[in-house]
Amino acid sequence: MKKKFLNLGKQPLANSFLPSIKKNEFFYNLSVSFDTKNYLVSVTNPVNPKKQYTDQYAHRASESRTMREAFKKTALKLKKKFSPKLVMEIGSNDGVFIKNFSKKMVIAVEPCKNLANLTKKHFKTYPNFWNKSLAKKIFNKNKKADLIFSANTISHIPNIKETLEAVELSLSSNGVLIIEDPSLKSVIKTNSYDQFYDEHVYVFSALSIGEITKEYKLRLFDAEEVENHGGSIRYYICKNASKYKTTRRLKKIIAREKKSGLNRFETFLKFTKRVKKSKKDLNKLLNKLKKSDKKIISYGATYKSTTVFNYCNIGTKYFDYVTDTTLNKQGKFTPGKHIPIISPEEGFDDSVDYAFLGAWNFKKEIIKKEKKFIKNGGKFITHVPFVKIIKN
Ligand code: TMP
Repeated sequence: MKKKFLNLGKQPLANSFLPSIKKNEFFYNLSVSFDTKNYLVSVTNPVNPKKQYTDQYAHRASESRTMREAFKKTALKLKKKFSPKLVMEIGSNDGVFIKNFSKKMVIAVEPCKNLANLTKKHFKTYPNFWNKSLAKKIFNKNKKADLIFSANTISHIPNIKETLEAVELSLSSNGVLIIEDPSLKSVIKTNSYDQFYDEHVYVFSALSIGEITKEYKLRLFDAEEVENHGGSIRYYICKNASKYKTTRRLKKIIAREKKSGLNRFETFLKFTKRVKKSKKDLNKLLNKLKKSDKKIISYGATYKSTTVFNYCNIGTKYFDYVTDTTLNKQGKFTPGKHIPIISPEEGFDDSVDYAFLGAWNFKKEIIKKEKKFIKNGGKFITHVPFVKIIKN
């Protein structure tokens, strides 16, 4: 049974950076539920993906050095571990993962046409949503995938039944599906409620993935915790009859998830209390800084910060602007709260007193890069795991 535990209020699409401020912006109600039967945590009423994954899609996975390096390392590791002959990626974005494979052995699936266009010259790319009809078009009795990889994508697809049935049709008998998504344990532990937004329909745990895959003739046999995006889990899934045995590290992850209460509704009610406190604390801190005439900006126009700004009801009253390195976000306005986005070259200078870490998941990379800002007395603010000014 699905039980609602968190209401993040009226939210715009996290990806809808506006070229100009418009009046009829799309909003939906963002609430989050826990399914007591399969432990799945999901957005209660997901938005139609056709509204979200358009030819205007802004996110470029290659934008951060951390992610470029992480995907390269993962690709090399998976090649060595599974020696796949045919690899497919679901949600290939700008090709940051597939470019580590030879062109003959990889297939890309990417519904955002602007992104699919980036990879189609070099790799076989299907500019489509992943579903059974696409699976039947790509694969047949004699052509199956040895490895299906999907990072930060499966959690975005509301129809998990169709997704996993299509995977089951496409995998070779010992083929492996590897998915990587933000981990529920990390979200709860670090109070990162901004991992919930329209695109993150699900925040998975090994507990929930273990239960769901069972329903579609698939089996979770291994999992590993990785640092990406503030704490993610990489899940290894095979067909029921495949050769792989359940690993000890999976059993340990599941045991730790149970210890953290990810199978109990009360855990999520307590989380909601902490989220409400985070909202209060952030408003209080920004208010105090603004009263003493400090210049505050936000660093990284992330999808996550859309949730924070709209839930906490904070905008240009506090932030002069947001800086972001992504070219197609610059010159636009943040969804819902309409804060202007400019390049760091233009806006990240000595006039800034405080920078809210919208891209807190790249904290290490950013703090390393912005030594000069810190040396000159600039400070970063974060809300993860609780609202604070970061001490340098
Ligand atoms: P993500 O958390 O959805 O991957 O988005 C991170 C955003 O932050 C992306 O738009 C790029 C931006 N960013 C910067 O502006 N400067 C940086 O140093 C880093 C690491 C990211």
